[in-house]
Formats: sequence, C-alpha cells, structure tokens
Amino acid sequence: MERNSSFGRLGGKVALITGAASGMGAAHARAMAREGAKVAIADIATEAGEELAAGLRNIGASSSYHDHNVTDPAAWQELVASVERTHGPIDVLVNNAGIQVRSVGIAADDDEWARVTAVNQRGVFLGMRAVIPGMAERGAGSVINVASTAALVGMPGSIPYQASKAAVLGLTRGAAVSYGRNNVRVNAICPGLVVTGMTASASPEAVEAMKAQIPLRRDGRPEEVSAAVVFLASDEASYITGVVLPIDGGFVAL
Ligand SMILES: NC(=O)c1ccc[n+]([C@@H]2O[C@H](COP(=O)([O-])OP(=O)(O)OC[C@H]3O[C@@H](n4cnc5c(N)ncnc54)[C@H](O)[C@@H]3O)[C@@H](O)[C@H]2O)c1
Repeated sequence: MERNSSFGRLGGKVALITGAASGMGAAHARAMAREGAKVAIADIATEAGEELAAGLRNIGASSSYHDHNVTDPAAWQELVASVERTHGPIDVLVNNAGIQVRSVGIAADDDEWARVTAVNQRGVFLGMRAVIPGMAERGAGSVINVASTAALVGMPGSIPYQASKAAVLGLTRGAAVSYGRNNVRVNAICPGLVVTGMTASASPEAVEAMKAQIPLRRDGRPEEVSAAVVFLASDEASYITGVVLPIDGGFVAL
C-alpha cells in the first residue's frame, strides 16, 4: 500500500531527521514514515542508514538516506538541496544527532569539549540555519531539537555534554520567538534514560541504579520518544512552540 499520500498524521509532509541511522533517530524515522511522512535520513553511518531507508521503501514509504555530518556548515546546504530535490520542501526538521563523551565531571580535555559542542550544540544551530529560512518563506514548519534531561537537572556525568544540551534549549527558545510570526514552530524534547548505542558503555548495574530513581521505575523505549516527535511534527501541535518537553518517566519531576 502506498503510504505517502495525504493519509496519516504527517500525510505528505517531508521530514529530515539527523542521526537517524540508529537508536532513537531510527525509531523516529519509522514512526514518521508510518504516519505518511516522506523521510530523509541523515547520518554518518552509511550502511545502517541505507538499510533503514531501503526497509522503509519496502513497506511503501518514501525514504532516502543522505551521508551528512551535522558539524559541516557547507554540507548542510548540499543536504537541504538534495532532500528538496528528492522529496520537496522540508516541513519538519528533527535535530537528533548527538554524541556522549566519556569524561566524568569537569575532567574533559579540549578535544572532548570541542567534539561534543560541535555535534550537540553547533550541529543544531547549523541545521536550523539551513532549514528555517525556507520554512519561514513558505509560512510553515516544525523543528524538533533533541536535548536531554541532562539539560534540566544536574547529573554526575559529563559536564560538557550537559552544557551542550542546555544550549539546545537556548537555541530552541530563541528560534521559537524569532520565527513564530512565520508560523515556524520550534520545540525541544528531553529524553530521559533510553537504552541505545549511546548508553551501551553503562554497566547493567548503573542502568538498574538509574531505573530505580525514575518514578515509573523503568527506562523509556525509543518508540515512546517517537510518539512525542510525531505529535510535535504534526498539525495537532499547531499552537505549540518554544516548549521543552521531558520524556523521562517523571525523572525531572522529582
Ligand atoms: N539514549 C539516551 O538515554 C538519551 C537521553 C537523552 C538524550 N539523548 C539524545 O538523543 C539523541 C539520539 O541519541 P541515541 O540514544 O539514539 O544515540 P545513538 O548513539 O544510538 O544514535 C546517535 C546517531 O547520531 C549519529 N551521529 C553521531 N554524530 C553525528 C554527526 N556528526 N553527524 C550526523 N550524525 C551523527 C550516529 O551515527 C547515530 O546514528 C542524541 O541527541 C542524544 O544526545 C539520548
């Protein structure tokens, strides 16, 4: 069955998702495709990204993979042009690509600081800079920036990671108030503990200890985060902009 018609909560919309070859980004790609979006998957993990796009096409979705490093300003222009040639103007941008660093506390070296800031903070800025002007000109668009509960409360992890995610909230609010008049909505989500490649280095004991602190007493599933992404991308969220939504089993309510 052809899914990219006007059916579904995202029927006919073109969605670009960064870091979508694996983890939560891949779940967002599947969920958005199921809701009728044309999905452009951007990542640096070529094989996994190509495979996911092909899998979505096999179930009747319109999907493409684009090799793209979010830290490269010139590459953003090429990506937008390529997505628009393939699917049409971008309606939804999900700035999902992110990295964690190993250092704990303030011990990060300059290289770790530069890497985490380049991907998690500057990557979001570059994405919005490349995509929002077109959305503003067309008078519609939804941007979803992926922050973290680490942006909302202090945690005994990497301080540069936390700082980069807190910056995402500033980028989100600034863009939301600047482009509201153009009907471009910009929101941030703050996932809590979701087991993906990113959390693979945490020991099972550490994961259990984290779960014990969460009011719902469990980790989140990628699909539970995707449900919020689909909602914010859809016209159901047409009056929602500038919000910061924790998806964390109640963790930041503690
Ligand atoms: N997993 C969690 O518990 C958790 C919690 C809060 C927030 N987050 C955030 O959610 C987002 C997704 O994380 P995840 O857990 O799915 O991680 P993941 O490591 O499974 O996936 C991240 C994806 O981003 C891609 N990527 C990395 N650097 C890139 C770059 N420079 N350009 C393009 N793509 C790049 C990777 O190849 C990978 O496919 C990240 O922004 C992360 O910080 C994760």
